[in-house]
Amino acid sequence: MLIREFALGDEPYLAEVYRQAIHQTAAADYTPEQLAAWCPAQHDPDRWAERIRGIKPFVAELDGVIVGYADVQSDGHIDHFFVAPEAGRRGVGSALMQRIHDVARVNRLSRLYSEVSLTARPFFEKFHFTVNEAQVVIVRGIPLNNFRMSKSL
Ligand SMILES: CC(C)(COP(=O)(O)OP(=O)(O)OC[C@H]1O[C@@H](n2cnc3c(N)ncnc32)[C@H](O)[C@@H]1OP(=O)(O)O)[C@@H](O)C(=O)NCCC(=O)NCCS
Repeated sequence: MLIREFALGDEPYLAEVYRQAIHQTAAADYTPEQLAAWCPAQHDPDRWAERIRGIKPFVAELDGVIVGYADVQSDGHIDHFFVAPEAGRRGVGSALMQRIHDVARVNRLSRLYSEVSLTARPFFEKFHFTVNEAQVVIVRGIPLNNFRMSKSL
């Protein structure tokens, strides 16, 4: 497995990881209506590319195929964290999380935090994040449950 920095051209591959992770993996915990609000069928590639270039994620490759990505911002915020379903439970998420912790240490961050899905909560708990608050966010008019989670470093 390779964990590398984002490169221009990755954007459509990351969009596919995002779509599959939500519509397949997170489908265990959210209704079809919620999944459609979270990741609509209509997708604007330009807006997506702008967003991804803005967060500059780390990208995970298995045998040369992009199977996951996650970011950490300078204040410790983790915005995106997604692994393709076919690569799930094989340590891809853990490798990305390890990289995030390495970056946090180098940059002397005091805290990591994220808004974590029902699906990803056990994974974040494995890395000693704790729930600050259960919340309901309205996305495209549909309520979605998630958790504000954080970890002191
Ligand atoms: C959460 C996610 C990133 C985990 O990625 P992953 O590559 O499968 O994670 P790993 O294989 O490194 O898992 C490490 C450990 O985390 C825990 N874990 C991961 N997924 C879990 C799940 N669904 N239920 C319970 N524990 C889980 C386990 O302890 C696991 O170790 P094990 O497989 O030896 O039991 C992935 O499931 C995902 O993309 N989910 C859907 C999208 C999503 O909700 N993203 C987060 C938005 S905030």
